[in-house]
Amino acid sequence: MTTPDESTTTPNYARRRAVIGITGAAALAVVGIGFAAATGWGAPADVVTVVQATNSSSASQVTPSSSASSTPSASGTANESPTATATPTASAAPTTDLPYDISTGSSVTVLVNKHYSLDPVDYAPKPTIKLTKLDVPSMNDHSLREDAAEAFKDMYEAALADGITLDMASGYRDYDLQTELYNGYVEDLGQKGADLTSARPGSSEHQTGLAADISAPGESDCVLTECFGETEASDWLVAHSHEYGFILRYPDGETDVTGYEYEPWHYRFIGVDAAADYHESGAATYEEFLGVEPAPDYED
Ligand code: DAL
Ligand code: ZN
Repeated sequence: MTTPDESTTTPNYARRRAVIGITGAAALAVVGIGFAAATGWGAPADVVTVVQATNSSSASQVTPSSSASSTPSASGTANESPTATATPTASAAPTTDLPYDISTGSSVTVLVNKHYSLDPVDYAPKPTIKLTKLDVPSMNDHSLREDAAEAFKDMYEAALADGITLDMASGYRDYDLQTELYNGYVEDLGQKGADLTSARPGSSEHQTGLAADISAPGESDCVLTECFGETEASDWLVAHSHEYGFILRYPDGETDVTGYEYEPWHYRFIGVDAAADYHESGAATYEEFLGVEPAPDYED
């Protein structure tokens, strides 16, 4: 795939931007649209249904991740998928004393990290909805699960009322897109480098439809880069996102717990009640809040 900003000195961000299809340049919107068309990303909500999460334990539980395999093991749409360099597989769900379901893929509080992946690995949420359908101006027409999308809209409008405009650089990503994204990182950075910045397919919160990579119009140099953390939009999100059910998922200095480098743009919807508890708890990470073990690495 073409990577329009390959010349940048930060190849990981170049890859991220290229695959997701954004920068300040209008030309990249074309990349994003082309990519969406190629992958089905951004398809109408009724098209993206793969596995309906129900109270059935087998359809949507989260399972410990382990090693490399190449194709989704589960049923579902079973589209032809790009070969993943490493794909989680596994068994047994985490437990917590808190009153949250963290082991069901469709649960708003589901824990997805390097120890706990989605099962089936090509799980897809239902329904998802384009933010633009909710009248939220959103770069590249991104989608979220409907409850997260409604919350994002509320957050967008509250920020706007405070003079802050939010945008979205990436939202729901299906298994195939995450596979392509991850494999691109592996090509550029090697597996170890890739694993610090991109989740393996089946292990990304974006695949739940509950994660949003947030950006700020007018700060195009800081889209999906650390300097987003120095923007007014980031300050606003750090102060207020929990009021709308979102938490900053990969904070600075927590790589040993989350497994990922600082991502000031990646917000995860866990619902207003859980986010209020999270904020109140003072926990630095979702893992700490839940009382589950740190997940710095896959259990290869
Ligand atoms: N960048 C985050 C970790 C993801 O790929 O889901
Ligand atoms: Zn993200």
